[in-house]
Amino acid sequence: MEEESRIVSGMKMKEDVTADVTLRPQSLGEYIGQDKVKEKMAIFIEAAKKRGEALDHVLLYGPPGLGKTTLAHIIAQELNVNIRITSGPAIERPGDLAALLTNLSDKDVLFIDEIHRLNSSVEEVLYPAMEDYALDIILGKGPSARSMRIDLPRFTLVGATTRAGMLTSPLRDRFGVINRLQMYDADQLKTIVKRSAKILEIEVDEEGAAEIARRSRGTPRIANRLLRRVRDFADVRAEGVITRDAADKGLQLLEVDELGLDNSDRLILDAIIMKFGGGPVGLDTLAATTGEEAGTIEDVIEPFLLQLGFIQRTPRGRCATENAYRHMGIPLPQNTDNKGQTRLF
Ligand SMILES: Nc1ncnc2c1ncn2[C@@H]1O[C@H](COP(=O)(O)OP(=O)(O)OP(=O)(O)O)[C@@H](O)[C@H]1O
Ligand SMILES: [Mg+2]
Repeated sequence: MEEESRIVSGMKMKEDVTADVTLRPQSLGEYIGQDKVKEKMAIFIEAAKKRGEALDHVLLYGPPGLGKTTLAHIIAQELNVNIRITSGPAIERPGDLAALLTNLSDKDVLFIDEIHRLNSSVEEVLYPAMEDYALDIILGKGPSARSMRIDLPRFTLVGATTRAGMLTSPLRDRFGVINRLQMYDADQLKTIVKRSAKILEIEVDEEGAAEIARRSRGTPRIANRLLRRVRDFADVRAEGVITRDAADKGLQLLEVDELGLDNSDRLILDAIIMKFGGGPVGLDTLAATTGEEAGTIEDVIEPFLLQLGFIQRTPRGRCATENAYRHMGIPLPQNTDNKGQTRLF
């Protein structure tokens, strides 16, 4: 994913690069949460190993920072095979993909991050590779051109994307296993915070870990980032121990509110409520009035606001819910329906 500067964005920042690797769980057992995905993958992996076959191709999708890359590494680890890592935009020409594929060993994992960004000429080469483990190469040009088929080793493609909707259906159809990663609940995030604190030798008590977890937007990468930032605060102001109070004060200083929202989230909510009467308002209009990019709103701001039930997506645009008004401390509009309930839209 591209880099971002918001501390509560799930997108990777420079400071996450090392932490992402250091804190990455190494096995399915260590991977916290995502129980259904884990259970499914454990069975598929065991079955493939028993049969001595390559695992079916796996698509992982979900918002940034939820553990797609981590899971791809774990899949290879659990299969006891090598993993080759690349990304959609890095494979510029069909020849680049051919080079990657022909260099794989039997049953290896090829991980393609941001797979929705593959260009179509590369994608076409990928279809027979996924389906028949073969490459169709055209030799020569014009009337004398002929096509040649090269057999490939059996391999497992693991594709990751934050935008499953942008995948073409022929590509999507070629994945045998499709996993959508869910946001993590506060308990799971607390476990992740405690695990990371142990690895990084940060002292954090139960309540301190819970406070960071609650404000991490359901996202492990954010939890780990907030943990590191709050550590700085605790080191300077709270004798190095992250208590609930230290976490709270540290996060306040970072302008992360009690639900994990920051100024960008509040800006969006404020615009929907104050400028558009609670909505509906179209994404592009919202982007233009707030100065945020439409893509950023859609990928990083909106998923969590939807998850919190603060906004709804309707065919006519985004609407703010009652909960959003309450959180923002803005009185609800006075329209009521015949059941005495406030009608917002
Ligand atoms: N299930 C988990 N248990 C514990 N830690 C996790 C888990 N998932 C993710 N993490 C932590 O969060 C970090 C970010 O996860 P990862 O890089 O896998 O996210 P991603 O989904 O690939 O994000 P992006 O969309 O930006 O590529 C990991 O390095 C790891 O430290
Ligand atoms: Mg990733």
